[in-house]
Amino acid sequence: MKFFIDTANLEQIKEAQSLGILDGVTTNPSLMAKEGITGKENILNHYKKICELVDGDVSAEVISTDFEGMVKEGEELAKLNPQIVIKLPMIADGIKACKYFSDKGIKTNVTLVFSAGQALLAAKAGATYVSPFLGRLDDISTDGLNLISEIRQIFDNYMFDTEILSASIRHTMHIIDCAKIGSDVVTSPLSAIKGLLNHPLTDIGLEKFLADYKKGN
Ligand code: E4P
Repeated sequence: MKFFIDTANLEQIKEAQSLGILDGVTTNPSLMAKEGITGKENILNHYKKICELVDGDVSAEVISTDFEGMVKEGEELAKLNPQIVIKLPMIADGIKACKYFSDKGIKTNVTLVFSAGQALLAAKAGATYVSPFLGRLDDISTDGLNLISEIRQIFDNYMFDTEILSASIRHTMHIIDCAKIGSDVVTSPLSAIKGLLNHPLTDIGLEKFLADYKKGN
């Protein structure tokens, strides 16, 4: 399973990259705004900086909601760096734009996916990634993991190449459950990635090994 980090924070991206386990980055307009990155030129420059920090795919989201606007924005984003993946909203024009870019060999990520039917349409349009938002479903008392399982089954039935990019991850168990289901990618905050490192028995065991070493020296 690939690990993406879901942030526009350069320090957090560097920290995840330094662990040696990072495969890519996802951003969205809210994550950009959280870092105080506003205005078209600043946003484009920020994407360039992110691409310099990592080797893998970097999802950059369009703001337009009409086909022509998405194509214009997406083409501009794609020119920034070959690592850029055009992130498109799961609406009719987003699906049309997804088909347009996939026909041109440009990578896409269809975002804001909340149903298996939406994921199926995105795969038919040739999406590189679909992003089901499992945390936001859990937030409204709906089983987000069940959606990941449904999409896995459908994609396997028809051998779609589209990768499931599980998003809106809230905690470490989401990552583990996505891995059990067979999600191709998980994009999560740094806190959830780092949370996977921890186990009290590891800390206790290490403390004892070091204490025993000191006794003998
Ligand atoms: C995915 O690409 C989105 O950026 C993200 O996972 C949304 O997560 P949230 O529900 O925590 O905002």
